[in-house]
Amino acid sequence: MSSHGAPIPMTSHACGPLTGEAQVPGDKSISHRSLILGALSVGETRISGLLEGQDVLDTAQAMRAFGAEVTDHGGGDWSVHGVGVGGFAEPENVIDCGNSGTGVRLIMGAMATSPIAATFTGDASLNGRPMARVTDPLTLFGTQAFGRAGGRLPMTVIGAVHPVPVEYTVPVPSAQVKSAVLLAGLNAPGKTIVIEAEATRDHTERMLAGFGAEITVEETEAGRVITLTGQPELTPQRIDVPRDPSSAAFPVCAALIVPGSDVRVPGIGLNPTRAGLFTTLREMGADLTYENERFEGGEPVADLRARFSPDLKGIEVPPERAASMIDEYPVLSVVASFARGQTGMRGVKELRVKESDRIDAMAKGLRANGVSVDEGPDWWTVTGLGHGNVPGGGLCASALDHRIAMSFLVLGMATQKPVRVDDAGPIATSFPIFEPLMAGLGAQIKRINR
Ligand code: S3P
Repeated sequence: MSSHGAPIPMTSHACGPLTGEAQVPGDKSISHRSLILGALSVGETRISGLLEGQDVLDTAQAMRAFGAEVTDHGGGDWSVHGVGVGGFAEPENVIDCGNSGTGVRLIMGAMATSPIAATFTGDASLNGRPMARVTDPLTLFGTQAFGRAGGRLPMTVIGAVHPVPVEYTVPVPSAQVKSAVLLAGLNAPGKTIVIEAEATRDHTERMLAGFGAEITVEETEAGRVITLTGQPELTPQRIDVPRDPSSAAFPVCAALIVPGSDVRVPGIGLNPTRAGLFTTLREMGADLTYENERFEGGEPVADLRARFSPDLKGIEVPPERAASMIDEYPVLSVVASFARGQTGMRGVKELRVKESDRIDAMAKGLRANGVSVDEGPDWWTVTGLGHGNVPGGGLCASALDHRIAMSFLVLGMATQKPVRVDDAGPIATSFPIFEPLMAGLGAQIKRINR
């Protein structure tokens, strides 16, 4: 959906201990890919634990528009009757990807080598984000793209009639760009090669292999070299979507900063390309443990246990870890506010082109609540005040960004005065049950009557 309804302002008040179990929803990245790869298979893919956030629902709707039959069986169980690689139909209408960069970029890749045209749009956040990073490599296949100035949506993509395979070195650490090229490579004859200097989340590679594509990954001096053989017949799968570490981050971080807390977050995907936040928190002195470590559906999974951690210390987050925690810097900056000393976050230019400019959005909101933040183009530092010393009392703009809204609501759980967020509506894109889940643990988040 290209816009959500009226703003939903909320206030988060300091609360007693957070306790209990937090059943967070399915992984957003894997949910998008399950629907898209299901649509590119021949036959029925069954998915359980799909994230039913608006971003993923928009991708489900898009897959229907390209000809797949997508059915919601209730309780997170979905099925997709795919049309096969190269089988996408031309959509009759504009594809609205709402707030989702992952949705639009992966779908552009998936249709780019079929002889069809599609026009894509999104909400004000998505329509401001750079798409040339995806359409540039897609043109190498023979695809054409016509959008607004600066490569922005709305944009029409005309798929290549006679696609050729490509070799492409991804210039920015982006799983979305890598995935778009790989999905386009599916319908090009021969071998498509993608090289990434820095490892980014590898769900597309793992899932393509699971769906029966011929794909190899080689670690070389130049980085990860991924080679995909085009025009496979993808075989439908049963997919159990693990729970999202990026959503788990919120109850985990809240537990670390609220006195007396002890929260279990079961069944969290801990793919090493996603788990950087948890490593960082432990380095800061967080009482965070992994219990019951196991493998589910090819992904490492564990139950997380997070307890109040009064002696957090600021650290330098290694820049080479950035890709594995790129969506978690906003909530990390909240934890850093309660640590002693500075937390430095470098090599994070990508934060400026997410659902919002996340450095700018967090810096403004943290400052409004008495926390000092310094920033540059690709870095920022937060000067922690120590537990119990963060003033709060400020109003924060969520900037159409779910993770910014949730981060500031977590902040208010441990500040001296309540923290207000102008619009918590965007939370529905990735974590629709955030409010009742956090309330169930003991959080005091209140909707403000306007
Ligand atoms: C995602 C990749 C990341 C991440 C986004 C989800 C994905 O973006 O920020 O929330 O599912 O591939 P980039 O690939 O642009 O870094």
